[in-house]
Amino acid sequence: MTEPSSLWQLSARGRGLTDSAIRALTKRIGATSGVVSFAGGLPSPATFPETEFARAFDHVIRHSAKTALQYGPTDGFPPLRAWIADALSTADRRIVPEQILITSGSQQGLDLIGKVMLDPGDGVAVETPTYLGALQALGMYFPRYLSLPSDDQGLIPEEVESALRHAAPEGVCKMIYSIPTFQNPTGRTLPLARRVALVEASQRSCVPLIEDDPYAALAYDGRQHTTLLSLGGDHVVYLGSFSKILSPGIRLGYMAAPLPLVRKLEMAKQASDLHTSTLMQHVVFEIIKDGFLGPHLKNCQALYRANAQSMHDALHLHLRDCARWSAPTGGMFIWLELLAQLDASALLDAALAAGVAYVPGGPFFATSPKVNTMRLCFSTGTPETIAHGIGILGRVIREAAT
Ligand SMILES: Cc1ncc(COP(=O)(O)O)c(C=O)c1O
Repeated sequence: MTEPSSLWQLSARGRGLTDSAIRALTKRIGATSGVVSFAGGLPSPATFPETEFARAFDHVIRHSAKTALQYGPTDGFPPLRAWIADALSTADRRIVPEQILITSGSQQGLDLIGKVMLDPGDGVAVETPTYLGALQALGMYFPRYLSLPSDDQGLIPEEVESALRHAAPEGVCKMIYSIPTFQNPTGRTLPLARRVALVEASQRSCVPLIEDDPYAALAYDGRQHTTLLSLGGDHVVYLGSFSKILSPGIRLGYMAAPLPLVRKLEMAKQASDLHTSTLMQHVVFEIIKDGFLGPHLKNCQALYRANAQSMHDALHLHLRDCARWSAPTGGMFIWLELLAQLDASALLDAALAAGVAYVPGGPFFATSPKVNTMRLCFSTGTPETIAHGIGILGRVIREAAT
């Protein structure tokens, strides 16, 4: 990357900015034609409810143009906040609309958390591996990352407290960041007993949890997993998103936080962008208010289930001797761990030349990257193109392994 001229004296934050591995890779793939891409992490365009959006835009402009096209409150459109509070509430834990802040994607929620909670050098404990975009967003506030031990089921709660204690001499640990359901990048889901144990460990350690949950509605069996929020209440900040269930282009997410904290987050958001698009909030509320999501999510789940099955079967056919993975029960990702001697970044050129793309796993580790890993996203494409792409990937990896 070329640096701006010396006229523009960058801050330490500006100097530290680098292109994300995925963005750079997406540019490379864009320039290579005919590649089956498992790299992007994009929801399937087949799940975008285009007709519903057209109807809702028309309705909002006809009936509410004067407010929908105006500036709005920073915390968001009240009916949408009430709908979200209701959706997040359980029999044991009521979430009130005042706890909800509408954000411009859950990515903004991560940035706001960094802004109001992190001083340089503060500890942030993360899963191993974790969402690269969270490392980037929180990284803007110069934290010290601590990688928490994880296995095929996600975080190992029994090891959380000792890991936090171990890190304590180096300074305060401000939060544990977790994606418990259909995690990005691994597709893993934390079992209920571990969720309970994780919340208890975080409560005993007095280190709050950030629960990032954009994939929860994409369970292939339609099942709802118990949220950390419902178990931990005021000990948890919850991030949600409409990106994976309606459209990521609308940039609409939300967070639920304890009352005093949510006001701080709201002030930070006000300074950042005043508020999230009023028009889009009206439109999304118009789409979801009468039960649209029920049948719509069933369609999304069926599409991703078929793609996941195809990838799993093809991996079993072509790569069972060179890699291990676990079959996801929801979401958009499979995480591949190759034979120890293989480096997924070093294989990428050969894979692209052969016609298949993936994201090497290294950048998803906050510390000590495991280079023999890769993230495969099966959300776009069909079961047939996915099987074809894994066939190509299998040849590239088998060749490198011999
Ligand atoms: C775990 C996780 N958190 C947050 C985001 C950001 O999503 P949004 O589109 O809501 O900003 C993503 C996007 O892929 C993600 O995978």
